[in-house]
Parts: sequence; C-alpha cells; structure tokens
Amino acid sequence: MSKVTVVGSGNWGSVAAKLIASNTLKLKNFNDEVRMWVFEETLPGGEKLTEVINQTNENVKYLPGIKLGKNVIADPNLENAVKDADMLVFVSPHQFMEGICKLLIGKIKAGAEGISLIKGMEVKKEGPCMISTLISNQLEINCSVLMGANIANEIAMEKFSEATVGYSQHKEVAERWVQLFTTPYFIVTAVDDVEGVELCGTLKNIVAIAAGFVDGLEMGNNTKAAIMRLGLKEMMAFSKLLFPSVKDSTFFESCGVADLITTCMGGRNRKVAEAYATNGGKRSFEELEEELLKGQKLQGVLTAKEVYEVLSHHGWLEMFPLFSSVNLISQGRLPPSAIVEHSDNKSSMIHNVLWHGLLHAFNLPLLPFIRHSHVSMRAPSIRYRSVQELEASRGRTRGPKLAITHSSYSVVQG
Ligand SMILES: NC(=O)c1ccc[n+]([C@@H]2O[C@H](COP(=O)([O-])OP(=O)(O)OC[C@H]3O[C@@H](n4cnc5c(N)ncnc54)[C@H](O)[C@@H]3O)[C@@H](O)[C@H]2O)c1
Repeated sequence: MSKVTVVGSGNWGSVAAKLIASNTLKLKNFNDEVRMWVFEETLPGGEKLTEVINQTNENVKYLPGIKLGKNVIADPNLENAVKDADMLVFVSPHQFMEGICKLLIGKIKAGAEGISLIKGMEVKKEGPCMISTLISNQLEINCSVLMGANIANEIAMEKFSEATVGYSQHKEVAERWVQLFTTPYFIVTAVDDVEGVELCGTLKNIVAIAAGFVDGLEMGNNTKAAIMRLGLKEMMAFSKLLFPSVKDSTFFESCGVADLITTCMGGRNRKVAEAYATNGGKRSFEELEEELLKGQKLQGVLTAKEVYEVLSHHGWLEMFPLFSSVNLISQGRLPPSAIVEHSDNKSSMIHNVLWHGLLHAFNLPLLPFIRHSHVSMRAPSIRYRSVQELEASRGRTRGPKLAITHSSYSVVQG
C-alpha cells in the first residue's frame, strides 16, 4: 500500500491534502493516513500551527473553516514527514523549493514518485529550471506535475473544477496520480507533456498581473480579453522556445486556457496587481502582498522577473512585450498604464516565434517563404513599443536600470 506525503501546507497545499485524504480512505492501494509537512508557525494566540491543525483538523491560518479529513496528520519535521512516503506531493511557494530539496537529499525512500503542484521556475546561471526538474535532479526521483484552473478556496468548497497531470513517459504513474486526486468535483486528465503543463501553470501568473493592472485602471472587459489573448500567445511562444516538444493541445487543457481565464478573473495575482495599479504604482508589491494576502505568497511578480532574465539573456525581450512590460511595471520602472502601449512591429515577432517553434518541433528548417508569408497572415492586435523606447519616452528613472538579478531564498525548517 502506497503512503502519501504532502510537502507544503498553504492554501493549495491544504486543499490538496483534503482531496487526497478523501481518496486514500476509499482506495485499497493507498494507506489511509496522509502526512502533511507544515512550515511551523506560531499563531497570534501563541499556539503552534501544527498542533492546532491536528487538534481541530483545520488549517486555521491558510484554509480556515474547512475540515481536512481526520486522516491528515500535520508534521513540522520535514525529514520525518517524508521518510516512509512512496508518493510525494510538492506544493510550497516555488521560492522555497530549492531550500526544501537541499534538506531532503538522501532522505527520500528509494523508488518514490513525486508530483509538483508548484507554479514557478528557478533561473540559474545555466538557464531556467522548471520546479519539477529541480525536484527530479536534486532528489533523483521521477516528478510529474498537476496544474489547472484551480483557485484553492473554490475546490475547498467542493465546487466543480478540472485539472491536468503532466507526465513524461510513465503513463501508469500518471494514472495513479489521477486516481489519487480525482473526486466527483475535481476531474483530472493526464497528458504526456510535463514541460507544457508546468509552463502553462507558471506563465499564466504573469498574465494575471497584467489583468490586475487592467482592472485597477478600469480599462474594461475588452482590454482584459486582449491582454489574455496576447498573454496566451506569449505563453505558447516562450514555452516552445524553451521546449520545442511542448504540444499545442496542452494549451487547451485545464492547465492552459482555463487556468489563464480563472487566474485573470479571480486569484491573488490579479487582486494584488489591481491594488498596485489603483495606487498608481506608489505602494510596492511587497507591502500590498503582506496587507492583502496575510502570509500567502504572490507568484506572478517573481515569475515575471525570472522570465525577464531569461528573455534578456537570450535577446528575446522585444518578442515578448507583455511579459517584459509586466516585469518593468512591477519593478516601478514603467507606470501601470504602460500595459497597453501601442507600436507596430511586435505581434509579428510572436507569430514568428510560434512558427519557428512549430518548425523546430517537426524538425523543419525556417524557410524564407514562410518567414515572409506569415507576415501577411497576422491579425491586427495590440502591439508594444520596445522597453527602451517606453522608458525613454517617459524619462522615468525610478528603480535599477537593467541589472535585474535573481534573489535567493532560504528555507527555515520548523
Ligand atoms: N492557492 C491557490 O489557489 C493555488 C492554486 C494552484 C496552485 N497554487 C500553487 O501552489 C503553490 C503553493 O501555494 P499555496 O497556496 O499552498 O501557499 P500559500 O501562499 O497559501 O502559503 C504560503 C506557504 O509557505 C509557507 N512558508 C512561509 N515561509 C516559508 C519558508 N521560509 N520555507 C518554507 N515554507 C514557507 C507557509 O507556511 C505557507 O504554508 C504555489 O506555487 C502556488 O502558485 C496555488
């Protein structure tokens, strides 16, 4: 019988534990108990979060009002929580994962399987690294991913939604994950495209920040739809540039367009970005995150910064005007209104990248006639001026110029 441990206990981590715990009680091939590693915190009343979860069966800080299931056991000791696990569910904010993995090296049971529910990426000197790859490489385990249109609080209330498991090669492993997560109100489908699924989940948070700016500036639904469309194009183009094997069909799964829509309509990234724009960019994201999310973590701003580093490194900034603008606005280098600045030559570049990705995927050369023909095929759309042009036209000097470096984080074990 397989034992399951959830590494992480925030808003989504707690809901994941609830979903899994309802299934391990019913499925014969899983041990009933679900361990949940809790980054220990002391609550305002002086009690330890772990003790309160185990006494009340509720994560009073990150998922108040929802019973997790009596078979969920909170454990503040990371090593102890994972030591017997055959199936490991990773669901911490991505900035803590490198530290968590370091603590777990050599502590995982041989043959264990992992799945990452984490949206985000790490940018290293060698290039971008997806979180599932970080987990796989550091812990020497196979790691699938689960992403989708999944605002945790709605699933906690058992409102219907869907999700996508992304796997690589091992279909039978993906089927076990599908079995472990699926409930009548949470329908999971597996696709053989781990990178595509993970990049969808990661990149849509940048688009959600843009959608929040649009809401804060009261630009209306048409503008938001335009931002979502452009965002989807940049998501596809960026994913295919990094991983030519990424499939178009993945963007039409729950992890793709559905997650993009839900995150741009609701979700924490949109919410905090809206407040940022409402305040004219005068209050920092850190301050607003603290005030509005109360301990929950924002992913989109950090992801925009990480993606910007990748774009900048490869000289791709001009091909990704939306992603680039989101980062520059979040860093205070452009005003929120720059999210819909127009120019004439960028959309065709994205189109070019998409074509290039397709050709690359099918191992075809980039023929000159295609390079010309796609220009006439492109549809009219919002286009952006280059970052340099925008900065120059506004004469803005706030913040650092181009030296955006990757910050490092450490994990503190409770
Ligand atoms: N909440 C959602 O609706 C949702 C939905 C889908 C995916 N996700 C993704 O799930 C992942 C986890 O998000 P969440 O919503 O469960 O978390 P959260 O933002 O609600 O909570 C933050 C968590 O980080 C922990 N933490 C704080 N400091 C830490 C440290 N130094 N080291 C380790 N842990 C620390 C906190 O104890 C808490 O458990 C993210 O990648 C997020 O993008 C979230």
